[in-house]
Amino acid sequence: MEIGELKKLFDDMTIEEKAGQLFQTVGAMYDDEAVISGPMQEMGITEKDIQLAGTVLGTMGAEKIKRIQKKYMEAHPHHIPLVFMLDIINGYKTVYPIPLAQGATFQPDLVKECAAMAAKEGAADGLHITFSPMVDLVRDARWGRVMESTGEDVYLNGLYARAMVEGYQGADISGGEKLGACVKHFAGYGGAEAGRDYNTVEVSERTFRDFYLPAYKEAVEAGSALVMTSFNTINGIPASVNKWLMRDILREEMGFDGVLISDFGAIGECVNHGAAEDRADATKKALEAGVDIDMMSGTYPENIPALLKDKSISVELIEECAWRIMKLKNDLGLFENPYKGADEIKAKACILSEAHRELAQKTAENSFVLLKNKDNILPLDKKKKIAMIGPYIDRRYMLGGWSFTGNPEDVITIKNAAEEKLADYEIVYAQGCPILSEDVKLEGFANYTEEKFSQEDCEKMKEEALRAAKEADVVVLAIGEHFLQSGEATSKGIIEIPKIQQELFEALSEVNSEIAVVLFNGRPLDIRILEERAKAILEVWMPGTMGGAAIVEVLRGAVSPAGKLPMSFPYCVSQVPVHYDEFPTGRRHHPGKDKDRYVSKYLDMPNKPLYSFGYGLTYTQFEISDLELSKTVMKPGESVTVSVKVKNTGDREGTETLQLYIHDIAGSVVRPVKQLKGFERVILNAGEEKEVCFTVDEKMLRFLRADNTFGSEPGKFEVFIGNSSEVEECKVFELLKG
Ligand code: GLC
Repeated sequence: MEIGELKKLFDDMTIEEKAGQLFQTVGAMYDDEAVISGPMQEMGITEKDIQLAGTVLGTMGAEKIKRIQKKYMEAHPHHIPLVFMLDIINGYKTVYPIPLAQGATFQPDLVKECAAMAAKEGAADGLHITFSPMVDLVRDARWGRVMESTGEDVYLNGLYARAMVEGYQGADISGGEKLGACVKHFAGYGGAEAGRDYNTVEVSERTFRDFYLPAYKEAVEAGSALVMTSFNTINGIPASVNKWLMRDILREEMGFDGVLISDFGAIGECVNHGAAEDRADATKKALEAGVDIDMMSGTYPENIPALLKDKSISVELIEECAWRIMKLKNDLGLFENPYKGADEIKAKACILSEAHRELAQKTAENSFVLLKNKDNILPLDKKKKIAMIGPYIDRRYMLGGWSFTGNPEDVITIKNAAEEKLADYEIVYAQGCPILSEDVKLEGFANYTEEKFSQEDCEKMKEEALRAAKEADVVVLAIGEHFLQSGEATSKGIIEIPKIQQELFEALSEVNSEIAVVLFNGRPLDIRILEERAKAILEVWMPGTMGGAAIVEVLRGAVSPAGKLPMSFPYCVSQVPVHYDEFPTGRRHHPGKDKDRYVSKYLDMPNKPLYSFGYGLTYTQFEISDLELSKTVMKPGESVTVSVKVKNTGDREGTETLQLYIHDIAGSVVRPVKQLKGFERVILNAGEEKEVCFTVDEKMLRFLRADNTFGSEPGKFEVFIGNSSEVEECKVFELLKG
């Protein structure tokens, strides 16, 4: 509706109705059979609150949402539509790889396509907003939510943030196949101390601005309809009541004028933080910080009336928030069509369609990272007898920790796919062990229980697997984390593969050295034992609905793996936080070159992670040579062309991702030893050679300088082009004064 009309409607609403817009409920409150019980009752939520609420969390289904919307609008004094929001993180019903796996594709366009697919399915099923993308920079594999991030790199995260927002929203969020995006968690949530979820975040403002903020900024500039506050403190103040963060940075500096929603209960939790005397104080502070929607803490409906009455908060403050929410509803087109894209027939036609399955499979195939492939044990040789062993050989639970919208029954397992695509291979299958031993406690979605096995069953499983391994030429061992072992509230101090699986691997490696591991996980793990004893390691993350099909295509060589690590795999958990873009320090350690003891290193382990950011093998080999600069001196406004030759020296087609890194050798503040500034995926036939060029300009050299202005500084820069962040060869150019 025209903004003038909207304003007229808004002015006609009572302050009670306007305040109601700031409250988010759950769909169960509107179900015919719903009763207000449990947490809601404790929160003192009344029928009136529900009748005037502005948005709904966690309901799905076109028919149900239309029914709730109709009933709600009839009862509302001004018949204002609800907004329906949900966590659609890596797909709705057609689930594609978790975001960390998407990060490994180095293909923002592919990730954008996936987001558009998720939007099409979610919108058809009645949704309006998704709580995605999560763009928190991550450097600590103990934090389980790394699985929801696209990794440790500032530049890459920014590209994916933009890609996902554009994919979900398209050009206009009122579109029937589009969802409004909600970038989260603002801000710095990934920096939780000790990798412990919800913990304090202590970073300097410089680090915060230079590393943690850029990806949120990218998402805001891409037009994200909402931003979600994070649970953590920044500078000692919880994000949800942090005026500096929300008013100065988000609204003023970044120019965000959309809806700011709290994370689940986060406003009320400011009392626990000790940042608010009580829930009324938390309410006042959150409103003053400009948080428009209270997600499930109940503080807003509980306290706003009294705060208004005693004039602790102004009517204008409420109206500011309510107006942004009404604008969002208008941008979603809900006043013209409160049911938006909800369409049972359309939902049935697009959900899990062949095209959607194909895209999910393609993304999974492109997300896999080949970490090791000694003696080219992969792809599998048809002439060899194969034993496919492990708890993931015929397991459907590979959708990831935020996939409650997806259905494991729809998943293609490795065994399903192998029986179809490897029918002419000689294969035996054996589970080998349960995914977890009984003593491992899982939390997470209440409606999930893991199959139980007796001690006798376990022994039988293991014997059968050992027998199969003894008689096989090659073992494919599919192991890894349980899907509930990474995601929210899953921080871990030990990041190895489950003990019971490690024992199986050790036993198998005693009887057969030809083992190719297929690794399922939501976070980087300490996999030294696999590195030592397995011949091959294929990282498949949590690959989604088509995971098994994608894995078999790579195992049989129909697809050559080409993913690159978006996050370092630490040598062991003691090494975290570990990230490639570290500062040099005054005593940088050069492995193998140090004579001096007094350098920045450990006595008992390497500085280098087990596998570095940007690393990944393929089924062929590439040679990178002839690093050249078009010039060695550059004035601002000019650019330098950096080029290399890359040759496929193997015997089959393959894909290599050339990565451009820059090191600002000296600045007014110290600069990372390398920073990714560009990349290009090249597909080359056996023997084919190609020149790859990057243009480096002054904008790429900008950072937060000592005087807190953002810009470049004259001086010398090292420039690298390689196939991982471990590249060493570089050339130097100089940026002259402007
Ligand atoms: C959770 C998560 C957030 C999610 C929200 C709604 O606590 O922190 O990422 O979007 O609640 O489910």
